This record gives sequence, C-alpha cells and structure tokens, in this order.
Amino acid sequence: MPTIAPSLIRDLVEAAASVAAQVELSALLRSTVQTGMDLTGAKHGALGVLGEHGALMDFVHVGLDPGVARQIGHLPRATGLLGTITRTDTAVRIDDIGDHEDSVGFPDGHPDMTSFIGVPVRVGERVFGNLYLTDKAGGFTEDDEVIVEFLAVTAGTAISTLRMQERLRRAALHEDRERIARDLHDSIIQDLFAVGLGLQASMAKVDNDPTAVHQQLDTSIDKLDETIASLRRYIFDLRPPVWARPSLPSELARLLEELAAPHRVAVGLDFDCPPDIPETPVADDLFAVIKESVSNALRHGEPSTVDVRVVCEGEVVRASISDDGTGFDTDQESEGLGLDNMAERVERTLGSLFIDSVPGRGTVVHVAFPLQPSQSK
Ligand SMILES: Nc1ncnc2c1ncn2[C@@H]1O[C@H](COP(=O)(O)OP(=O)(O)OP(=O)(O)O)[C@@H](O)[C@H]1O
Ligand SMILES: [Mg+2]
Repeated sequence: MPTIAPSLIRDLVEAAASVAAQVELSALLRSTVQTGMDLTGAKHGALGVLGEHGALMDFVHVGLDPGVARQIGHLPRATGLLGTITRTDTAVRIDDIGDHEDSVGFPDGHPDMTSFIGVPVRVGERVFGNLYLTDKAGGFTEDDEVIVEFLAVTAGTAISTLRMQERLRRAALHEDRERIARDLHDSIIQDLFAVGLGLQASMAKVDNDPTAVHQQLDTSIDKLDETIASLRRYIFDLRPPVWARPSLPSELARLLEELAAPHRVAVGLDFDCPPDIPETPVADDLFAVIKESVSNALRHGEPSTVDVRVVCEGEVVRASISDDGTGFDTDQESEGLGLDNMAERVERTLGSLFIDSVPGRGTVVHVAFPLQPSQSK
C-alpha cells in the first residue's frame, strides 16, 4: 500500500466534494477530468463514455487545444490502448504510451503524448466509461494511481446519484400529470358534461316551452361561470377546486338535482351521518365518487331510478350508488378515466371499492372511506 500525505487527503476530500456537487452530467464529467489533472499535474485529461457494447459514445476532454481537436475531427476509436482498459476493466499506468503493446499510435494532427494513466469508471456493476490522464512531467506515480482510482469511484457514485435523482424527478412529474388529469376529469369535465346534457335536453322544448328553455339557458350560463371560476382557481393553486360547501348533504342534494335535471330520472338521496361528518378531505373523495357514479349511471345506464345512500358506521363512511339501468361488464377495458380515478382515490386513502354490475340488471357501486384518513396525500 502506498502511503498518502495528509495534505493529499485534504485535496482528495475537496476533489470528491467538487465532483459530487455537480448537478448535471456533462459538468460532472468535466469536473472529474479537471480535478484529476489538478491533483496529478497531468497536461491532458479525458473521460470516455461507453455505450452498450463498449463503443465510445462521448469523449469529454480537457487541455487539448480546440483547434487541434477540430482538426482531428473524430472521437478516439476506443481501440488500441483505450480499448484495453475497457476490455480488461483494470487500471493502466505507463511512462510512454508508445511502449505499450496495444498502442496503435495517434491520428494525424494529434499531439504526441507520453506518460499515461487510465482507469475504468464504474456505475454500480457496469463500466460507465474510462478516465484518462496524460503527460505528467516525470511520469505518473503509484500515488497518482491511488488518486485517480479514488476519483473514478467518486465520479461513479456521483453519476449514479444523478441518475437516481433524474428518475425521481421524472416519477414526480408523471405523478403530477396524473393528478392534474384526475382533478380536471372529476370536477371540470364532469361539470361541462352536465351543462351539455342540460342544453341538449332543452332542445326538445324550444318550440313548446320557451320559458323552460330560457330557465335552462340561465342555469347553464351560471354553471359555466362557476366552472370557469373553478378552473381559474385550479390554474392558480394547482389544487382541486374547492366548492363553497355549506354541508355535505345539502351539497350532495344540489349535485344530484343538477345531474338528474336533463334526464327523466328520479335520483334519491339517503344521508345518515352525524353533522359535519365526514370532513375534508374524506368529504371531497366521497363527493367525487358519488358524482362520478351517478353521472356514469345517467350517461351510460339509461336507468329509471338512481339511489344514493351514505351511512357512517364507526370509523368508516360507506356509500352505495345503485341504478336499475343496463349494467355493464366490469372486466371490460375502457378509455374513460372515471372508474380509474375512483379506484385511485380509494387506494390512496386505504378505502374500499366494489362494483356489482350485471348486464341487463343494473349497477351498484359500493365504496367506503376511513373517516380518519391515514395516508391521504
Ligand atoms: N352505472 C353504469 N351503467 C352502465 N355502464 C356503466 C356504468 N358505469 C360505468 N359504465 C361503463 O363503464 C365504462 C367506464 O366508465 P368510466 O367512468 O371509467 O368512463 P366514462 O364514463 O366512459 O368516461 P369518463 O368518466 O372519463 O367521462 C363506461 O364507458 C360505461 O360503458
Ligand atoms: Mg365516467
């Protein structure tokens, strides 16, 4: 084991910190090369990034005049000595590149290089690339080899951290997208649907009952204004729209009346919970699931009646939404978002959902939420 002077240990710690501080891959690679040159006194340095089959994908170099690099015009071929490191997965240290048995010489215009050290950079189990340093006056020492190996390990760890962060960032973005789609569907899109259905229903009355049409238009305009206000709040807060809710049962009654208006269907509500229970956010989830289930029944089931029951039992609130419509095959894939969103709300809150539907005989949606949300996000 070579011994390392205390001042060198300090240099190494600083080097590790500066490499690990990089938040972007190309800056990290460049910083690794530069640090290697600073610590060893090498005149040139580079980091070659390998692709799937050991071919060179990228080559970050420091110290070579840009004009000269342009004149050479291509990346190293990763054959010859550079290829040896990839193949053997070990460090190579020599005083003169030309002396190595695998050396194939330099391309036209490439400056002559003599002393050389090269080490693989591993990320996890895989070789990510190789770190090369050349041209140290007097040649690279055993200490230099320790330093460069250390730097390669540091860089490998930092690259793996960067990749992990990138994956987490993407996952968070994806989650946000899903949440936005869900919120828009459950509130805005459903509301617009209801307005559309209301207008459609009033078309039949244009000739015989202009007063009813007039009323319907007024209601629709109000509803559109409300929806625009909701959307505006949502855009500014990026949070689900908050309804001014006097209390859940009266808000549910209003919702059901609105949804039923365009259809000739009786929608009943039986609400059996203590006052002000459930509270938000459970009330929001319950409201959304009932809204979706009732609009599904009305839109898809052609029922003659729809019944909504809500009951609080101990630590849970249960709801059932039943219709006597067409029913449907619950195993059938659908492009809609409604059922998926319901399932997602239930999963997030550790609730339960069961859809009992028989084609030709109607549908009952059973849902339950814990009154004390344990996992709500
Ligand atoms: N009560 C019901 N009666 C009959 N069919 C239903 C009922 N509920 C759901 N379905 C069927 O299940 C499908 C999926 O429902 P889902 O709510 O996921 O999507 P959607 O209503 O078609 O679209 P979205 O909810 O995104 O506006 C519906 O298209 C419909 O065929
Ligand atoms: Mg739906």
